[in-house]
Amino acid sequence: MPCNSTAESARHRAAAAAGLTRAIADHWVYRFALVSIGRKGNTRGMSSQLAAPDRPLWYSKLRIEMPSQLDLYEKTKALQWNATSEVDWSRPIQNFSEASYTPYASTISREDFDRLAAERRATTFTQLFFGEQAALALSAQLINQCDELEARLCLAGQIIDEARHVEVFGRYLDKLGVDAPIDPMLEDIVHRILDSDFYGEKIVGMQIFLEGIAVGLFQIFQTQSPDPLLRDLMRLVLRDESRHSGFGVMYLAHKFGSATAAEKKRTEEFVGDLLRGFGALMGGEASLASTFADIRHRLRQIGLDPR
Ligand SMILES: [Fe+2]
Ligand SMILES: [Fe+2]
Repeated sequence: MPCNSTAESARHRAAAAAGLTRAIADHWVYRFALVSIGRKGNTRGMSSQLAAPDRPLWYSKLRIEMPSQLDLYEKTKALQWNATSEVDWSRPIQNFSEASYTPYASTISREDFDRLAAERRATTFTQLFFGEQAALALSAQLINQCDELEARLCLAGQIIDEARHVEVFGRYLDKLGVDAPIDPMLEDIVHRILDSDFYGEKIVGMQIFLEGIAVGLFQIFQTQSPDPLLRDLMRLVLRDESRHSGFGVMYLAHKFGSATAAEKKRTEEFVGDLLRGFGALMGGEASLASTFADIRHRLRQIGLDPR
């Protein structure tokens, strides 16, 4: 009996092991079937977000749909810079020159001019600091909403770019020694972009619209600021920003080639609202007229016609 009992228990162990193997195999067949069923309804770029937030589409090999995005990624890697080692932060900030005051000399004292100009500068750079934080948050959101690998690589590059911009605007605000509130209208616009669940609205809102406005302002500061430190910062930041709008135009032109009429209409209405909201915020700022013309040009390149 001991011998039979040993054989019996060996048979039981073998049967149990076989059962376990089958169970594991069945489990993976079942999991695979579930994933396959889930993928059937996946219109790339949107429904992975609906099915499982923050869970990316996996690839078994490097699959590239948009080679132009890989070119952009190569530029991103080649053009990285370090704000600590490439910028001379020891320079004091240069304030407004006598020449910039002269046109206002008959209506305001030099002291009041300097105070008002400093207040305006503090407000502007606080909004830009906030905008860079929003761009960082948005890029991080998008990385799992865009299914294409090459788009994710570009967005990973934008994340480090925006982190650097947050750093330099934060350091510049520190040097200014100012503390201004965030504009509630800008905060509302940023929240609408971040809260959207559609990649089209997010990219049009950030890479085309808000970053388009930021580039317009950076170009003005780069050419007109009396402060050499700020002009240096703007030159470096602008080098990154052109890639971000390039990503938005290329990606959406590709995606919207097969988007539904409803998706396009939704995005056009979204960006139309942003244009009207920002028009109110900027009070018809004439110096940004060419910036708004550039934004509309990029929207047409994507195939959108905001009302
Ligand atoms: Fe930025
Ligand atoms: Fe940017």
